[in-house]
Formats: sequence, C-alpha cells, structure tokens
Amino acid sequence: MAAPPLPDCVAVVTGASSGIGAEIARALAGRGLGRVVLVARRRERLEALAEELGDSARVFIADLTRSAEVEALIETHPRVDLLVNNAGIGSSGRFDKVASTDGDSLSALVDLNCRALVRLTAAWVPGMVERGGGWVLNVGSIAGMFPTPTSATYGASKAFVNQFTESLRIELRDTGVAAHLLAPGPVATEFLADVEEHRQRYGAFFVPARRVAEEGLDYLFADRPRHVPGWLVRLSALVARSTPLALFRPVAGFAMRRRGGDRR
Ligand SMILES: NC(=O)c1ccc[n+]([C@@H]2O[C@H](COP(=O)([O-])OP(=O)(O)OC[C@H]3O[C@@H](n4cnc5c(N)ncnc54)[C@H](OP(=O)(O)O)[C@@H]3O)[C@@H](O)[C@H]2O)c1
Repeated sequence: MAAPPLPDCVAVVTGASSGIGAEIARALAGRGLGRVVLVARRRERLEALAEELGDSARVFIADLTRSAEVEALIETHPRVDLLVNNAGIGSSGRFDKVASTDGDSLSALVDLNCRALVRLTAAWVPGMVERGGGWVLNVGSIAGMFPTPTSATYGASKAFVNQFTESLRIELRDTGVAAHLLAPGPVATEFLADVEEHRQRYGAFFVPARRVAEEGLDYLFADRPRHVPGWLVRLSALVARSTPLALFRPVAGFAMRRRGGDRR
C-alpha cells in the first residue's frame, strides 16, 4: 500500500491559530487535502480559519502542554496521514533571570516544543508505516543549529526537533513515510514579541509566513529532507554552523552583552 491520494488524507496541523501553522493549514486545504484538523488553544481563531477553509477543516481545541489534552486529540483522530508538528513557543532572557521569575514557562516550552511533538509522532507514525505511506512535517528552526544565548531553552528545544526529525527520516527510509524538517529563520508572526525591533535588526532575513508554509509543503511532497526558507537565512545558518565553537562562543557572548541581553 502507499499513501492515499490527497483528497482521502487526514492532516493534523498543531499551532494552526496563527502564523506559520495557519498558513500551512491554508496551503494544505488549497492543495486538496481531504480533512485538515486545526489544533491550538484559541477557539475563535481556529473557528474563523475553519470557516475560511470550508468543508475540509475541523477544529480541535487543545493545550498541548497538557498530556490529557494531547491524548484526547489522539483518541479523537485514530488515523492521520499527514502530521504537521508546528506549535511552539519561545524563551527570551538570561536563563537564571527567566528561571527565577517565570520558571514554569521553561518547562511548558519543553512540554510543547518537544514532548507533545514526540507523543503525536509516536501516536500516528506506526499507522502510516503499516499503511505504507504518510508524511511528518516538523517545524524546527535555524535556532537549533548553533548556541542561542538568551534563548537557551528555545534553541535547545529546536536542536531536539531538528535532530529528531533527521534521525526519524533515516529510520523511516523505505517505509513510504517521509519526515521533513522545516527550519525557518525570522518570520514576522506573533512569535516575535518585539517584531519591529527584529525587523530593524534582521529585516533582510525575514521570509513571509505564507512563503515558509508553501515552500515547506513543496519540499515535503518532493520528499526532500529539510528546508531553510530564504537564501540569506540559509547562508547565515551555514556560516554559523561552520564556525568553530571556540570562535562562536566569544562572538555570541559579545553580541549578547552589546544588546543588553545579559541584563534581562
Ligand atoms: N516566527 C519565527 O521567527 C520562527 C522562526 C523559526 C521557527 N519558528 C517556529 O515556527 C512555529 C510556529 O511559530 P509562529 O512563528 O507561527 O508563531 P505563532 O504565530 O506564535 O504560532 C504559534 C502557534 O502555537 C500555538 N500554541 C502555543 N502554545 C500552545 C499550546 N500550549 N498548546 C497548543 N498550541 C499552542 C499557538 O496557538 P494558541 O496560542 O491559540 O494555542 C499558535 O497557533 C514554532 O514552532 C516556532 O518555534 C518560528
């Protein structure tokens, strides 16, 4: 057997209430997916998107940091052909300062960005393998490719996503199931609280969420292992990854102090 044609497929998109996830859901509906299940916490946002997408869309409200809600999602949808693990939150500030003022947010970040992603993948990939077809699109980040001072927990969670996806892809070779890593650089979404500050500093690196979504799906369906949208982002990620850590550490430390990041 192989993956069914797209009109017979069920897709789950986590974090579909805004940003990249909403654009991926729109792009999947536009490509004729039979059913697209939109998952997030904000009901009104999901219902508005479902109305926009029409008959193919279904809404599932879940806080994916809560195990019971993750399990309810899995129980409600026993068969999924395309899983988009996109929901994610960030962390910002020196670790000890965040830990002493908002330590719970760090655990929630790991629960959402890593634990829920593994649980959902574990729930649906065995069925895909049994049926001989399916897709997993994990949204990692270039932030997972090198140290990210002032976003230590976030960068580490994305390193987890990046590495998990690359290994999963190799393991699933010849099963008919494709795992793909979409690793964006800066994208102007609600994720960037200080988006204007980011735009001033990194404007040339920004890629629109819609393009990130469309390119991610193009690469997924072309069975390519990973995609970093935007040539400038690809180039800078390559330079950062190729820089020896002995050089990277002092440069990143200097940049952090210059931005005042060590004081927040
Ligand atoms: N924007 C960037 O610069 C950038 C760069 C690289 C990678 N990424 C990654 O791209 C992914 C999407 O981010 P985005 O930029 O599109 O940001 P966004 O607009 O803030 O979207 C995040 C999504 O995650 C959902 N979410 C957050 N907490 C959740 C929870 N506890 N349970 C369920 N859903 C939850 C949010 O929905 P609710 O609040 O309604 O639950 C929202 O739909 C993330 O994994 C992020 O790490 C973003």
